Amino acid sequence: MPVNLDSVRERDRQDPLAAFKSRFALPEGILYLDGNSLGAQPKAAKQAVDDTLDQWRDELIKGWNQGWFDAPERLGNLLAPVIGAQPGEMSVTDNITLNIFKLLGYILDQAKDGRRVVLSEGGNFPTDGYIAQGYCRVSGAEHRFLPEGRDLAEHLNGVSVVVLSQVNYRTGKLRDMASTTKLVHDQGAEVIWDLAHSAGALPIDLNGCGVRYAVGCTYKYLNGGPGAPAFLYVHSDHQDKGWQPLSGWHGHASPFAFEADYTPAGDISRFRTGTHSALAYAALEASLALWSEVNMQALRDKSLAMSDLFRECLSDIFTAHNIDDITPSASERGSQVSLVDSQNGYAIVQALIARGVIGDYREPGLMRFGFTPLYLSFEDVWQAAQHFREVMESGAYQDPQFHVRGAVT
Ligand SMILES: Cc1ncc(COP(=O)(O)O)c(C=O)c1O
Repeated sequence: MPVNLDSVRERDRQDPLAAFKSRFALPEGILYLDGNSLGAQPKAAKQAVDDTLDQWRDELIKGWNQGWFDAPERLGNLLAPVIGAQPGEMSVTDNITLNIFKLLGYILDQAKDGRRVVLSEGGNFPTDGYIAQGYCRVSGAEHRFLPEGRDLAEHLNGVSVVVLSQVNYRTGKLRDMASTTKLVHDQGAEVIWDLAHSAGALPIDLNGCGVRYAVGCTYKYLNGGPGAPAFLYVHSDHQDKGWQPLSGWHGHASPFAFEADYTPAGDISRFRTGTHSALAYAALEASLALWSEVNMQALRDKSLAMSDLFRECLSDIFTAHNIDDITPSASERGSQVSLVDSQNGYAIVQALIARGVIGDYREPGLMRFGFTPLYLSFEDVWQAAQHFREVMESGAYQDPQFHVRGAVT
């Protein structure tokens, strides 16, 4: 191991974010490098969910007037500073898939020139393309794909709206948000940003980048819990422009007037659909309280330093075992390390999981390791690299048990 443990421990002593780790409930003996799939549990989440269960027991339906009903906008306001939005510009609601559908319909409802073309990004997380195809099928809009790796500027001709991820889920590559947003707007089109792999992973300035529409999830880097509600952002100048197609009663201007016809709310609550889970919001709210204390630049610095440490510890192993390190350079990286071994990638990840080092695997051949600065120390990263080295040097990954595929990979 070329990097020595003492120097790593010294980095932990100097780490301004080190104290956050004690606020997470992490299982003994686990080195968790999968916060890019599902974040760890903030200790405060358990109490918050318990309190909401008690509130349900004691207050019954009165709970809806005691904070449950307002949760989408209240939590939106808590999340806004983490991604550079203003109060009133965010709703925490539904999931990314539904939120993209709502925004596509909302944007195309405003189309005055008859242009109705949706562009999806090849190589993006599939749901973003699937739901765009579904929307186009029911609305009659045209759907196109931007071939993976091709220049966006060359494919914007005639496009009304494009759905892009800020950080690619496979490679971890970061798009320049400000210049891309300007490029799309200059072509008279709109862009919906998917922040699944960037919210809580790096500083984001939605307002500063001129972004009008964005979505993202809270169960990854934001640690909101499995199936935690997603978020949707609409810039304050663009909130009263059209219908969103999932026009449910919670997005009505007067939901409790029970009118026959739909009138959209005049603000961000227009993007609600129907009844949400008070319990899920309780866990997420506990996590968001913690985010208000996080210095995002310190988070970014630590994220880059940790992913570099992991790669530095293993560079000789990558060379010896023909593992392709496709992790982008620091300025073009999210918060993950991406390694390709098309023959043994799956088995290596399984052999690591058997040792308590949790990363994940995506076809074809991709090993992903997420670096979450709030609950990982530099020593954790060093230990995880040590396990990786041992798995490769001992050939442990060749054991047939690690080659059997489960239903969820
Ligand atoms: C970029 C991206 N978009 C969307 C999703 C999932 O969307 P949903 O919240 O609708 O399940 C993921 C899940 O990992 C993702 O990585």
